[in-house]
Amino acid sequence: MFPALHAKKVILGISGSIAAYKTPLLVRALVKAGAEVQVVMTPSSKSFVAPLSLSTVSNKAVYSEFVESEDELWNNHVDLGLWADLMLIAPASANTLSKMAQATCDNLLLAVYLSAKCPVYFAPAMDLDMHEHPATQDAIQRLISRNNIHIPAQEGELASGLQGVGRMQEPDQIVDFLEQDLSSKMPLLGTKMMVTAGPTYEPLDPVRYIGNYSSGKMGYAIANEAASQGAEVILISGPADDLAIHPGVTLVQTKTADDMHTACLRHFEDCNILVMAAAVADYKPKHVEVSKIKKEEEITSVELVKTVDILESLGKKKTSQVLVGFALETDNELSNAKEKIKKKNLDAIILNSLADKGAGFQHATNKITFIPALGEHTAFTLKDKSEVAVDVLTQIKTMIDA
Ligand code: CTP
Repeated sequence: MFPALHAKKVILGISGSIAAYKTPLLVRALVKAGAEVQVVMTPSSKSFVAPLSLSTVSNKAVYSEFVESEDELWNNHVDLGLWADLMLIAPASANTLSKMAQATCDNLLLAVYLSAKCPVYFAPAMDLDMHEHPATQDAIQRLISRNNIHIPAQEGELASGLQGVGRMQEPDQIVDFLEQDLSSKMPLLGTKMMVTAGPTYEPLDPVRYIGNYSSGKMGYAIANEAASQGAEVILISGPADDLAIHPGVTLVQTKTADDMHTACLRHFEDCNILVMAAAVADYKPKHVEVSKIKKEEEITSVELVKTVDILESLGKKKTSQVLVGFALETDNELSNAKEKIKKKNLDAIILNSLADKGAGFQHATNKITFIPALGEHTAFTLKDKSEVAVDVLTQIKTMIDA
């Protein structure tokens, strides 16, 4: 099982080393692990392995030139660099390592490397003396210091007949290395998470509703961060702003508190963690008019009824799920928030204070206090909501692991 590599978009950069003859097996192993592989070759690597073998096993055209001569198509290195979830340069020859370290850009592989925003792994392969040379070691260290991830060459018999360090790791070992490294950075791998976000709209008539100013930013940030940490995420959203979502997030759009409740019930049994960040309306109009209310009708009041408390209802159904709510308070903040933990049978609540500048609805920032049902609360400073999402998930994970 390779859950961390599953559905990952991988650029495999192949440079000119004899170890390139193993790359069709490497592509096969990556594809078997569930990855989508795009091969980019340096011109000299084509002397060691046929592009046709690589395009056959990757099921994609192989790129090696900025412009493909057959069809005059431009291979956009920037798009390629942005497309990838990770880039693996294997084998990384002494020449390519040195150019990567110096930002030389004289072939497509190097241009893609310089454009890549994703983690880059490199697996050196060369003869013993070349590998030992201080200039090569210096290039490797410089790449490591810039957060490129080194898959060290192994000791063994080299193509020259010499014995020593310089062999590229075997394809299966490289895939195991990637899987382990990626998993270590995905603490929520194997977790099913449900997140709610945004406001709810409670209709008065076909053109009017009762709603609130929630933008959905906090819930979306938590959902996106959870997905990037490996969780399978269902995001149940009210009518929020049009916000970006991570490919690992499944979006379920809802409108009213009742819709959101139905969607939550559908997915609740299956989830391990629920974070209820939605600003659910507490009241809805008792009657929804079928036609638009006219001015002449002289309506001076609207009768309201309470909406379902979604979190409280899920708290009653809870078996092994971890439930985390939000509390928006203006006074007696800590005690009110703690009261909600009990009332709704929660494991923790995240307190937002309307007294804090830059926190709460609409803002790109938030200031929270994480209050577990058991143990001490932790207050955080004002941060961007994407950073708050990291804090929230770290707190939840720490609480679960305790
Ligand atoms: N919540 C919910 N269903 C509702 C109202 C709130 O699921 N009908 C959830 C919110 O998503 C939040 C938590 O309950 O995670 C607390 O919401 P909050 O508005 O702070 O508190 P209320 O329970 O609505 O109480 P009050 O408005 O009186 O403070």
